[in-house]
Amino acid sequence: MIITIANQKGGVAKTTTSAAFAAGLRQKGYKVLAIDLDPQGNLSDNVGADNLEKPTIYELLKNEVSINDTIQKNNQFDIIPSNIMLAGLEKEIIAELGKEQRLKESLENNDYDYIIIDTPPALGLLTINAFTASDEVIIPTTAGIFSASGITQLYDTIRNVKKYCNSNVKINGILITKFNPRSNNNQDMKNLISKLAEYIDAPVYKSFIRNSVVIEEAQTRKVDIFSYKKDSTVATDYSQFIKEYLSR
Ligand SMILES: Nc1ncnc2c1ncn2[C@@H]1O[C@H](COP(=O)(O)OP(=O)(O)O)[C@@H](O)[C@H]1O
Ligand SMILES: [Mg+2]
Repeated sequence: MIITIANQKGGVAKTTTSAAFAAGLRQKGYKVLAIDLDPQGNLSDNVGADNLEKPTIYELLKNEVSINDTIQKNNQFDIIPSNIMLAGLEKEIIAELGKEQRLKESLENNDYDYIIIDTPPALGLLTINAFTASDEVIIPTTAGIFSASGITQLYDTIRNVKKYCNSNVKINGILITKFNPRSNNNQDMKNLISKLAEYIDAPVYKSFIRNSVVIEEAQTRKVDIFSYKKDSTVATDYSQFIKEYLSR
């Protein structure tokens, strides 16, 4: 199963969700690979992957190395890291046929149970490669920054990928993140959920992720939230979300 975590807005917890989801699935005994498809390399940094000396997703997408050369084993999950070189890829391959299929082709014949793809805050060629390679998309969003035009654009991009590149891809659900019970009340939440349902043909998960300092503490220590503080609100929220995802 290949799952992309996407939203063209920055700061909505795409990277945090990718890491928690990958670590949680791995701790359930699945074989998990995370792919950092963001030139900012936040996911790579959060798990302490080497994205300077070793080959990254950039070399893989340019067909310069094989997938096994790029996978790094980590105590959290296996990862293909990225770095800023990836920012130039779109221009380098713009005139090439099949440029949307690069990632899909690289992932053929793998033996992972789950591949989780973290994407940049944009709907360009990298994110389109992720949608083309994926079975499912999960959309994290915060209650604060909801915009109807943003969500419509994202939905249209997925529909176009479905039409031209990958008829299988579908949105599995929308995950509300960084929820703050003090500034976001239940009414905000209900409004957000009904707006989302209006603009996008996908369910909103019942589970949502609360705000917590534990996220940044764990990221600084380069450990996953479950190993860091299994009983924290945010570790509980993410395990609840994973349970809900697996029960679908
Ligand atoms: N539930 C949360 N509670 C508190 N901070 C969070 C939470 N989720 C994410 N963050 C923080 O918000 C910032 C943006 O999250 P990130 O996952 O990098 O978003 P994106 O990948 O969408 O840009 C990071 O500093 C991260 O540590
Ligand atoms: Mg990110």
